[in-house]
Amino acid sequence: MHILIVDDEESQRSLLAGFLGKKGHKIATAGSGREAIGINAASGFDLVIMDMKMPELDGIETLERMKEIDPETYFVILTGYGTVESAVQAMKRGAYDYLNKPINLDELELIIERILKEKDTHRELEMLRAQVDDNFRSDTFIAESPKMQGVLSLVSRIARSDSSVMLLGESGTGKDMVARLIHSASRRKGGRFIAISCAALPETLLESELFGYERGAFSGAEKRKIGKFEMAHRGTIFLDEVGDIPVSTQVKLLRVLQDFSFERLGGNTPIELDVRLITATNQDLKKKIIEGTFREDLFYRLNVITITLPPLRERREDIKLLADHFVDKYSKKCGRVIKGISRGTLDKLVRYRWPGNVRELENVTERAVVLCRGDLIDSADLPLEDLPAPVHAADRSLAGIEKEHIVRVLVETGWNLSTAAERLGIHRNTLRTKIRQYGIEKTVR
Ligand SMILES: Nc1ncnc2c1ncn2[C@@H]1O[C@H](COP(=O)(O)OP(=O)(O)OP(=O)(O)O)[C@@H](O)[C@H]1O
Ligand SMILES: [Mg+2]
Repeated sequence: MHILIVDDEESQRSLLAGFLGKKGHKIATAGSGREAIGINAASGFDLVIMDMKMPELDGIETLERMKEIDPETYFVILTGYGTVESAVQAMKRGAYDYLNKPINLDELELIIERILKEKDTHRELEMLRAQVDDNFRSDTFIAESPKMQGVLSLVSRIARSDSSVMLLGESGTGKDMVARLIHSASRRKGGRFIAISCAALPETLLESELFGYERGAFSGAEKRKIGKFEMAHRGTIFLDEVGDIPVSTQVKLLRVLQDFSFERLGGNTPIELDVRLITATNQDLKKKIIEGTFREDLFYRLNVITITLPPLRERREDIKLLADHFVDKYSKKCGRVIKGISRGTLDKLVRYRWPGNVRELENVTERAVVLCRGDLIDSADLPLEDLPAPVHAADRSLAGIEKEHIVRVLVETGWNLSTAAERLGIHRNTLRTKIRQYGIEKTVR
């Protein structure tokens, strides 16, 4: 280990330096706090053994400044008789251990052994983490755009905590995939990932799915059923379409989350709850709260961390990569050799509005792979009706080009007039006039 010894007494420094040097450590010494900070900033140490009482900067202050530079450094503090209080202060500020003077060298050796062991475990953990991060990347989750990079970094930051996560985003933006990513990057990845869609399940069915039931709980309950919560024990439960949960079930769910335990329907043995909860919705829950169809208290319990997945049209950088990925995936699946997508077709894909987001892109690409005659996917293989044709400016009237451009921006913004006007750099009323003047009509999909 690389060790720095800080003491204002020369005899103490040479005693320690001699002893630890013989044990094979690389040693540096400093006669004051200030000197120590300087040396440390220049080279960095695994361990700093430091006297508490020094003129000018004392041990505590020096420790604090050095920790600021490198929080990973270990500190062992040396204290004189009757100064337990200052040892406590040093421990509180992150010292690893302390030793009373005169120093018992055997004791020091033991402490160093413990530090070495701890550093090893620490290193292993770091390696594991790196591996998880690798899996994470090698998974075919495509996220090159800045927006999705942001999502990924948030996911990797929060995955290891147990906080509830709410995934928001339009249909097909990848909520399901992100929920699985969170699970596989968490310390729960050895446990199960259980997903349940709360959409379109009648109340009683949803509750028996979630909580399970005992035999005879209701007519037709012929044997005990284990619910999803129980199956997800030590793992992750993913409640999809959480906005569709009936209000009465919301009350039960809230109680479960407050008590960390629940009973099967018709049962009275409490079952311990150790699950991480991830929910997803593409509805506006705030609106549902105002309407009284979603409980505000439940909302706050579920929504500790929010991750919003941007619609595909707001991250067009990802479109080409996703398309290539899906071509690869489906040509392998169908045993076809397809080189890729023609340049013009790719432009079309990038300009399209993608109301169904990544799922729509995946479906369209799959279809194109199946229909494709040659080894290059062409426009004819892609049925994207409402796409405005590309502008070939050379032999067009100015008005024609303007009309086409307006149409394209309107389609891309989903006919949001304010956004479209802003992007076109004109006033909304001007945009309205032009829409009327050119007879532009809204294409409904
Ligand atoms: N970033 C991505 N990289 C690769 N594939 C993706 C990505 N995002 C989504 N997909 C794929 O797109 C499809 C839709 O994704 P997913 O089911 O996760 O969306 P969702 O938001 O849960 O949709 P819904 O709201 O309809 O349930 C899936 O087949 C998924 O594999
Ligand atoms: Mg989904």
